[in-house]
Amino acid sequence: MFSYRHAFHAGNHADVLKHTVLIAILQHLTLKETALMAFDTHAGAGLYRLDGDYAQTSAEAAEGIGKLQDLKAPVPEALQAYLDVIDSFNTQKPWKVYPGSPFIIQKFLRERDKLKAYEIHPTDAKTLAANIAQLEAGRQVAVLREDGFDGVRKLLPPPSRRGLLLCDPSYEMKNDYARIPAMVGDALQRFATGTYAVWYPIIPRPEAHDLPKRLKTLAQRADRPWLHATLTVKSSKIHQDENGQDIRPGLPASGMFVINPPHTLKDALKDTLPYLVKALGQDSNAAHTLESGS
Ligand SMILES: C[S@@+](CC[C@H](N)C(=O)[O-])C[C@H]1O[C@@H](n2cnc3c(N)ncnc32)[C@H](O)[C@@H]1O
Repeated sequence: MFSYRHAFHAGNHADVLKHTVLIAILQHLTLKETALMAFDTHAGAGLYRLDGDYAQTSAEAAEGIGKLQDLKAPVPEALQAYLDVIDSFNTQKPWKVYPGSPFIIQKFLRERDKLKAYEIHPTDAKTLAANIAQLEAGRQVAVLREDGFDGVRKLLPPPSRRGLLLCDPSYEMKNDYARIPAMVGDALQRFATGTYAVWYPIIPRPEAHDLPKRLKTLAQRADRPWLHATLTVKSSKIHQDENGQDIRPGLPASGMFVINPPHTLKDALKDTLPYLVKALGQDSNAAHTLESGS
């Protein structure tokens, strides 16, 4: 039923955006004493080989993290924090290991914090559980082989009333686009002050176009602040090669929509996004946007 495997995409420009924003959020949320409960509704396999068959076949990491390994200082702080995290999973360059969201989140957790990581694909769930077991994190990290949209309902609000939910589906199922606002709307009713971060692809499809608008409406109705960051690296147009064959561009852009963002997030991304446009942009369509509201 599910054919998406994140191993093909790990470390691509979308992961760069998503994980840079995720780290900036985590840095802020772990400043306060109170315990944090993190939810990763679509966790993936947790760790990926950049020199493995999947990554080499797609070559997506080469256009993402591959372009960021040897940057000259000064590098914007939020991007540097992201690069430092990737570096900490590697012993040498070029990097061979890419940490997925559950490993990135776990890296920031303090003893009192917890992570619930949901993964429905049987193979990736098994790999994730095995990867997490290596951390010997005990009960701090739970890998749940169940539907992430439904799973989090049972656990909101968290006992400490401090929480971060990352929602990063594969959008392989068309109804993912509808399930996200349904889950976020429900979550906001149960736990209005939680931080909700949703990654989405920017592709010529009405549901994808509407998703950030729907999230913004939910935030505004709940009277909660929001932030919306996007990164475009190339044109979305199909073009022809010298033999007249259609070349499909692959994912050209993506966005992160955050409800209840840390008040520091916009500032943290202000220099990083234009820097990423320069570093990862592939044509004159490369651009970013950064909006917020309260
Ligand atoms: C984009 S990948 C996740 C990548 C990961 N968040 C990261 O940043 O490293 C999406 C994952 O969600 C899984 N998935 C799809 N539908 C799901 C659902 N309803 N509940 C839980 N996992 C699901 C897929 O098998 C896939 O591994």
